[in-house]
Formats: sequence, structure tokens, C-alpha cells
Amino acid sequence: MKALVLAGGRGTRLRPLTHTSAKQLVPVANKPVLYYGLEAIGDAGITSVGIITGDTGHEIRQAVGDGSQFGLEVTYIPQEAPLGLAHCVLIARDFLGDEPFVMYLGDNFLVDGITGLVRSFEQGGFDAQILLTKVAEPQFYGVAELGPAGEILRLEEKPEFPNSDLAIVGVYTFSPAVHEAVRAIRPSARGELEITDAIQWLIDNDFRVYSHMVCGYWKDTGRLRDILECNRIVLEGITPDVAGTVDRMSEMTGRIIVEPGAVVENSVLRGPIVVGADAKITSSYVGPFTSIGRGCVLQNAEIEYSIVLDGSRVDGVSRIAHSLIGRNVEVSRATGVSNTHELMVGDHSKIQVRA
Ligand code: G1P
Repeated sequence: MKALVLAGGRGTRLRPLTHTSAKQLVPVANKPVLYYGLEAIGDAGITSVGIITGDTGHEIRQAVGDGSQFGLEVTYIPQEAPLGLAHCVLIARDFLGDEPFVMYLGDNFLVDGITGLVRSFEQGGFDAQILLTKVAEPQFYGVAELGPAGEILRLEEKPEFPNSDLAIVGVYTFSPAVHEAVRAIRPSARGELEITDAIQWLIDNDFRVYSHMVCGYWKDTGRLRDILECNRIVLEGITPDVAGTVDRMSEMTGRIIVEPGAVVENSVLRGPIVVGADAKITSSYVGPFTSIGRGCVLQNAEIEYSIVLDGSRVDGVSRIAHSLIGRNVEVSRATGVSNTHELMVGDHSKIQVRA
């Protein structure tokens, strides 16, 4: 069994971060989302992994390398444009050969991994296996309509009026039959070869397609609130470990990781929290479900339920919440007499101030 990991795409819903960085590399509890997927693939006993890359290919290669840090052997397959998930299967034909494979969307996050899915596929003799989960807004996903016995009646990609609340999760297993399907389908209205249409083609042509409900937790991390929610889930499970320095004036409760070289002074930290290596937190409050990146500086600041990426600085600003702050960002208090907000913000940013 092989794995095909999709790490292309433009990540438009996470701009401006994705102007300079791949959406699959946004950190959750200070570790890129993509790493969780690669670890799950390794845990399922798969070693041969193809990674589809797009405009951010260079960065993905830099982060994953030859895959040996995950016990994997990685082959990179560049996609010239985001032409759809089924197009990824098409261009990976040589890499995949005639082996069955798991296809994993690099921005998807499954708490329980994929070992159960891979085992049931190996035992079941299916041509495709999909995972389904109930969601509040099915119109943003591939949607499955099931019959009374749980059989799949119809799959539709981002329907305007969904017939069910069952979203297709971004992890699939396929037999080599899928290669015929991806060659047979035509681009959708948005101009992409949809994997959802390829699976529907398998159903229409009497191949064995099976669906499972996801029992554990699943998120597509394409949107801010979903990333923050993933961060919360991962932080809830961390093992406390203070390798950095925390002074006697500071108060820490709950699960907290303080990575090596980080310094916490005169501050209140209420976990779960991870403080990245060489970060410095002074006279600040850090509340639950917050990940502070490497080398960040927090000074007279208050922050909770947020992710701050490496090298950023928050100085003299009270209660930031539900926020994702990029790399090397500076958030500070405006000085001077006028009561103004002073901003220099990148394209496609979103700022909500308590005016
Ligand atoms: C893709 C699939 C969709 C699936 C979703 C899961 O959508 O096309 O069927 O439900 O992943 O993350 P995308 O996120 O590429 O818009």
C-alpha cells in the first residue's frame, strides 16, 4: 500500500498567511498540520509516499525533506496548476503503479489517525473507501447521500442545496480501479477534476465503494476557526514539560509545555499552552488553548485561544483572543496623544478591533 499526500492548492481562505507559506504548514501546537498526517501514514505501516506540490513546493520540500524524519520515503510530484484532486491521481499514475493507496489531503486532521481505515480497506476488498462525518455546513464539502441500509446513493461536490449533512472527509483509500475513473470524468463547473466525481463514477460502474463514519475528531484546517479548534484539541492532550525557565513570580496552571530556551517571567499562564523554544514572556497573561511560536516575545500582553507563529512580538496589548498571528509580526500599543489604531497590514488580512 502506498500513500498520496496532497500538499498543493492555494489556501485562499487562509490569506494572508498563505501568501508566504503553504496552508499545510500552518502549525497546530507548534507543529505543521502536514506532519500529523505524515505521522498517521507512518503509523499505519505505509512507507512509500508521494507528495503532490504546487506553488509552495519549495517550502513543503524544505519541511519534509526525504521523509526519513517520519520513517517514510518521499517522492515529490509537482502539479503545474490546482486542477483538482482527481488530477493529482492522474499525474501520480507512474508513482502509484498498480498498488492500492491511501489519498490524504495535507490540510486534513484526524485525531484517531488512519490505521483503522487502512486495515479495513485491506480486509474488505473494496475499490474505494470514503470517510464521512456530520457537519453543520455541508455545502462547503463533498456531500454523501446514503440509502436506508447505509449504502451510498449519491456523492456531490459542494452542492448549493445539500441532501444530507454528511461531509466527505479528505482521506480516501483506493484500488487501482480509480485510475480508470479519473481518466473518464470531465472537469466540474469550477474547472477541476473532482475526486468526488471519480468516486461517483466508480459507483455508477458497479465498483465496490464503501463508506465509514468517522468516530474520532476530524477537521479540514482550511479556515481560521477550524485551525484554532484543532489547536485546542491537540493542546488538550499534551504532556506537560517545562524545559525552559519559569521564574518564581510566575503562576502556571494546567498542562503547559515550555520548550528549551524559553523564558517566562512575572506572568500568569493557564494551560493548555505550548511556549516555543527561545520565546520570552514577560509580565503577561497567556490563557487556555494558546500556542506561542519559537522566538516570540510577549510583554505586558494578554492572549488566549490563539496561535502565534515564530518570531512575532506582542507588546502592551490586552486580551487578544481567537487570533492567528503570522511570522515576525509586531502587535503593539499606539503611542502619542491621538486615540487611533495604527496599522500596516498585509493583503487579505482580517483585523477586528474593539473600537
Ligand atoms: C476537498 C474535497 C471535498 C472534501 C474536502 C475535505 O475540498 O473536494 O469533497 O469534503 O476536501 O477536506 P477542498 O478542501 O479541496 O475544497
